[in-house]
Amino acid sequence: MSVEQAINIEDLRRMCRRRLPRIAFDYIEGGTEDERGMPTNTAGFLRYRLLPRYLVDVSKREQSVTLFGKAYSSPFGFGPTGTMGLFRRGSELMLAEAARDANIPYVMSGASNASMEAAARIAPDHLWYQLYSATDQGICADLLRRAHNAGIGVLMVTVDVPVRTRRERNIRNGFNFQHKLKPSIVAEALRHPAWIVEYLRHGGAPILDNWAPYAAKGANATEVAQFFNSQVPAPSQTWRELDTFRKLWPGKLVVKGVMTTGDAERAVAAGADGILVSNHGGRQLDRAPAPIDMFPAIDAAVGDKVTLMLDSGIRRGSDIITALCVGAKFTFLGRAGLYGVSAGGLAGAKRVIEIFRTELDLTMGQMGCPTVADLGPECLWTERDLAPVVTRPRG
Ligand SMILES: Cc1cc2nc3c(=O)[nH]c(=O)nc-3n(C[C@H](O)[C@H](O)[C@H](O)COP(=O)(O)O)c2cc1C
Repeated sequence: MSVEQAINIEDLRRMCRRRLPRIAFDYIEGGTEDERGMPTNTAGFLRYRLLPRYLVDVSKREQSVTLFGKAYSSPFGFGPTGTMGLFRRGSELMLAEAARDANIPYVMSGASNASMEAAARIAPDHLWYQLYSATDQGICADLLRRAHNAGIGVLMVTVDVPVRTRRERNIRNGFNFQHKLKPSIVAEALRHPAWIVEYLRHGGAPILDNWAPYAAKGANATEVAQFFNSQVPAPSQTWRELDTFRKLWPGKLVVKGVMTTGDAERAVAAGADGILVSNHGGRQLDRAPAPIDMFPAIDAAVGDKVTLMLDSGIRRGSDIITALCVGAKFTFLGRAGLYGVSAGGLAGAKRVIEIFRTELDLTMGQMGCPTVADLGPECLWTERDLAPVVTRPRG
């Protein structure tokens, strides 16, 4: 089956699982501890139903939105996902290219394999950069300098990784960022020949290119990964670091991973232009609520002061529509993009965009909402809206 035949994101997920050895697929798919976060995110979206309004002219439908002064063709982008070269070589640059061609943003992860300079050459107008605070703040300052020099206009600072969490699939599989492969892992990987051939052809694990300049001179992929892991996460990070990034960064600043009104207010006080309400796709705090459930309170607290966006659990166009109806201005894809690009490279990344676009387009048509501006809370229904059941006393 080719990626063009994939009907939905679940098809791409299955293709991705077939192509990758378990150790790599589980790294993409897994959450932490009992992995309650992902079903929580899905359930959060499914609590809402979308209300159709008929006999509205929907012959012309338009899903473009303006974000930070730039018109994008759809209300979603590719969010930051790290170490993607492990799933397919060059996949970050493929996401950048697909995003550029579709006129949506691509956020390069702070743990990417490709360099921001390489991605900026491909997608100069669509590239954002995501920063993890590091123990050595000089490195952060240099990363910001490089991002600015590369022409990147939006910085996303991820705050929801104060410590590394226990992703039990990774522990069980022996996944580690040092890329040392046990014989049992190699044996399983041999059942995924396309992946193993590519891995060996490129001489093993991919390097974290953005970080190579800060590790020892001539460090190999393993040594750069070890150095990165000695710097990130930085458990002593506080709002002080965010204040510093704000001072250093001349462009738009988005804080990713905010889940409470207090943190949202503090991010606004720090001068954030945007907040991405996110629980990191259920990969950090397993018992965290779904972002869609936290969104209304955060919107009420700071929605008139910053651009609020949402990610975590988006697998359908109707998830994006639900997020827009509760008030999000924009959304980001995590695993969905990874499934596509891992399964089918550039064509897979493009297929992800096509699938979401088509689902958005048809759902908006069905709802009688020809533009994104027509989507709002009046388009939502939840079981809380049920009229109370009227009963008469027995007897
Ligand atoms: C394999 C993988 C790697 C990720 N790496 C990063 C990262 O480097 N930085 C970051 O801010 N978020 C990272 N995330 C989180 C995503 O940006 C996003 O918040 C999350 O995946 C959204 O949930 P979803 O996968 O259900 O769409 C990663 C997610 C996955 C699945």
